[in-house]
Amino acid sequence: MLSQVMQEAINAQINNELYSSYSYLSMSAWCESHQFVGCAHWLRLQSEEERNHAMRLHDFLIAREGRVILETIAQPEVEFETVVEVFEKALAQEQVVTSQIDGLYELAFNEKAFAALVELEWFITEQVEEEKTAREVVHKFRMVADDPASLLDMDRELNQRQPEAGGE
Ligand code: FEO
Repeated sequence: MLSQVMQEAINAQINNELYSSYSYLSMSAWCESHQFVGCAHWLRLQSEEERNHAMRLHDFLIAREGRVILETIAQPEVEFETVVEVFEKALAQEQVVTSQIDGLYELAFNEKAFAALVELEWFITEQVEEEKTAREVVHKFRMVADDPASLLDMDRELNQRQPEAGGE
C-alpha cells in the first residue's frame, strides 16, 4: 500500500499528464486551423500518448490500493504566433514533465516506495525519448525558418507519424 504522500504525488502527476494531453490537443487544434494538418496529426497522437501516461499512473495507483482523485485540468494555451512556437512550447512542456517525473522519483526513493520506483523508471526513459524527439522537430523547424516549400515538407513529414504499438 502506498503512503498518503505518494498517493497525492501520483495523483498530481496524473493531473500533469492530463494537462499535457490537453495542451497538445490545443496545439493540434491551432495547427489544424492554420492548415498545418501534418503537425496537427502529430500533436493529436502526442495528446493520446499523454493520456496513456496518465492512465498508466491511474492503473498503477489502483493496483497499489491507492485512491485516484481526479482534479480540475487547467486551461492550456490556445493562441500561438507560428508553428515553430508551437513546437518550442511542446519542448518546454516536456522539460517541465521531466522535472516533475524526477521529483516524483526522488520522493518514491525517500519513501522507499520500491514498486513506484520501478514504475517510474519507465517514465524516466520515456522522457529522454520525448525530449529528444521534440528537440529534433524544433531544430528542423528553425532550419527551414519561413521557407514555405520546406514548411510544407515538414508538415508532410510529421503527417507520417504512426501511433506507437501498445498505445504509449
Ligand atoms: Fe507524459 Fe510527454 O510526458
